Amino acid sequence: MSVLILNIKQLLQVHESNVTIIKGKEMKELSMLENAYIYIDHDTIIEYGKMEDYRTIEADTIIDATGKIVLPSWCDSHTHVVYAGDRTSEFVDRINGLSYEEIANKGGGILNSAKVLQDTSEDDLYNQSIKRVNELIAMGTGAIEIKTGYGLTVDAEMKMLSVIKRIKQESLAVIIPTLLAAHAIPSEFKSKKKDYIKLITEELIPKASELNIAHFIDVFCEEGYFDIKETNTILEAAKSYDLRPKIHVNQFNILGGIALGVKHNALSVDHLEELNEKDIEALKGSDTMPVALPGCSYFLSIPYTPARKLIDAGLPLAIASDYNPGSSPSGNMNFVVSSACVKLKMTPEEAINAATVNGAYAMGISNMYGSITRGKKANLLITKPMNHYSEIPYAFAHNPIEQVIINGQLL
Ligand code: NIG
Ligand code: FE
Repeated sequence: MSVLILNIKQLLQVHESNVTIIKGKEMKELSMLENAYIYIDHDTIIEYGKMEDYRTIEADTIIDATGKIVLPSWCDSHTHVVYAGDRTSEFVDRINGLSYEEIANKGGGILNSAKVLQDTSEDDLYNQSIKRVNELIAMGTGAIEIKTGYGLTVDAEMKMLSVIKRIKQESLAVIIPTLLAAHAIPSEFKSKKKDYIKLITEELIPKASELNIAHFIDVFCEEGYFDIKETNTILEAAKSYDLRPKIHVNQFNILGGIALGVKHNALSVDHLEELNEKDIEALKGSDTMPVALPGCSYFLSIPYTPARKLIDAGLPLAIASDYNPGSSPSGNMNFVVSSACVKLKMTPEEAINAATVNGAYAMGISNMYGSITRGKKANLLITKPMNHYSEIPYAFAHNPIEQVIINGQLL
């Protein structure tokens, strides 16, 4: 199966030599070919160039992309897309004045989602979740990190891992599973938190590792959830199972989770709505990708990650959806790219770099995804006709995507 796309108005994120991360000032540059073609065979990008240099190539499918933009599909490095039910009643509670914290303290929030998930069969959980994954693919996302974390018991976490494994097998998108081993304290462990940490380190992590599904370990490092010491204990335990950290830090409070993540060579530290100079210093010179989640800030009305401070300090930045029922019930990466521009003051070039190459980096797959480079996987999206790629973030909440190609397959 080969696909040839001709007359592309703008072919974005084109790199002759492979690029796996884009940092600081470089994020303002988006390499591009105008009036271009691209040829893909099976799941691989074989050739691309300017139309003036195009010489006939035979292909099974030929697409005329006159007036349209082609770019790598979105790489969403942070989602909780496997969940059961929804939290619409808490949404209304928040509109009526309760805070996210107050709802959680009443036994709502993550505990609420965990209860529903525990009572949902594996098949039902799969059916609810794959539907969302398919919606994400149709909106241009080609690679998706999916976390556990709504189980809160060993059995329910195993159920989540099985569902993620099934999604990975059945979906065309690239699925990167993460064991969110420490997401909240179940009520029965409220007065014996130490026992719960023990359960995580001595039962959950070993058992999950046996299944060999998760690539990464995650902890919600936050006041009222897991403090620095507890997070450290959990990351230490995960190390012997080769689970590299990708952690939730600085969503509401600065506890020092960024420096801790860097110390453990975390692949990413995510949220960062709160951020200080020490955090920025800790990230400098590290291999850890900071990840902003503007959908969460939008939905919870909390501060937006100070992207300018990070990028202007020479650091890279990725953006992701944080798709989950409580703090970001949307996985639309087109909206994430748009809100990165509008609210994080990122330029369209920076936002597109953050949602492609850097998103792929934050999943450990940027050697094969996230840019248009010969030999990389053909995960592409074709937009509706537009004058310039800046219209993708400009026309917020529109769907700019016309067609999606995942691993060389036209959807
Ligand atoms: O990334 N912050 C922790 N976890 C999720 C929200 C979980 C929930 O409210 O269900 C997040 O925002
Ligand atoms: Fe999250």
